[in-house]
Amino acid sequence: MSEKKSEYYTRPPKLGKWESFSTFLWNSETSQFLGRTGSSWAKILLFYAIFYAALIGFFAAMLTVFYQTLDAKKPKWLLDESLIGSNPGLGFRPMPPDSNVESTLIWYKSNDKGNVLYWQEELSRFLELYNKDNNPHPGNIEDCQQGVKPTPGKVCDVKLDNKWQPCLAKDGYNYNSSSGGPCIFLKLNKIYGWHPEFFNNTNLPNNMPNHLQDKIKSLEGTPENKMVWVTCEGENPADIENIGAIQFFPAPGFAGQYFPFQNQDGYISPLVAVYFEKPARGVLINIECKAWALNIHHDRVDRRGSVHFELMVD
Ligand SMILES: *[C@@H]1O[C@H](CO)[C@@H](O)[C@H](O)[C@H]1NC(C)=O
Ligand SMILES: *[C@@H]1O[C@H](CO)[C@@H](O)[C@H](O)[C@H]1NC(C)=O
Repeated sequence: MSEKKSEYYTRPPKLGKWESFSTFLWNSETSQFLGRTGSSWAKILLFYAIFYAALIGFFAAMLTVFYQTLDAKKPKWLLDESLIGSNPGLGFRPMPPDSNVESTLIWYKSNDKGNVLYWQEELSRFLELYNKDNNPHPGNIEDCQQGVKPTPGKVCDVKLDNKWQPCLAKDGYNYNSSSGGPCIFLKLNKIYGWHPEFFNNTNLPNNMPNHLQDKIKSLEGTPENKMVWVTCEGENPADIENIGAIQFFPAPGFAGQYFPFQNQDGYISPLVAVYFEKPARGVLINIECKAWALNIHHDRVDRRGSVHFELMVD
């Protein structure tokens, strides 16, 4: 501050509080403002200007170098190199309320409108993206044939048409049905560049349900076999008894033409709607759904290749 440098140190005159402050603000004797002379202020400002300019330049240069190594459309680490790996998980919708993050229980009273509404709205929100009008790239969407890939750069449509009945908004996804069960939608997690390896009658695993093995054998050599198959089953003997008949829309699996996901503009994940025709009422049913391809391994703990949820309809 304003310590006077004289050859002999002389005690500064005693000043009042206000006086010493105003001297600090502007010292007319030495022409110091806040304890520094004009040229001192100029030097210090110049120093900081150069210092920060250099800092900004360095930071910008590093950021530029970093961005050179990234691709906005494609992850840097792919499949097995990446943390998410090459074994896709299965997910289900509707999800239970956020207040219960750990919960996988879908429980409702089919005759309670407000209760049912939550699940229906949850599904409608999830399915919004499947409406072409909400897709940011509607021009990129093609109608694909089973097993036939779209034009490069285009994506296959997922059409929720009347074949999905009653798993449609206009049918309330069947949650309000007085006797039938709900529709639950399954989705395979997107993994960039993942190609499913399809089953044929030479490579069926022993743990695959017989009805699916028979189906794959009967479709040998047809494009319908280019499918990531889906099965859903009760987990325990009681669950198997209570689960009742199940239908899958549009098919019991995700068709091959939707793969691989390469972040194409407008890409829509394929869906499978699982319609529980007549689950037992008033009991909790444990359900496990699995996705089947040669390169999907099932691991219940890691939640890979399969999904578990509970259903209770009152
Ligand atoms: C369920 O709700 C939908 C739409 O709100 C309605 O169209 C349908 O008829 C209802 N179903 C039953 C069984 O009440
Ligand atoms: C069946 O799949 C295997 C791969 O597991 C493949 O090598 C073989 O060519 C396939 N067979 C037919 C008839 O497509």
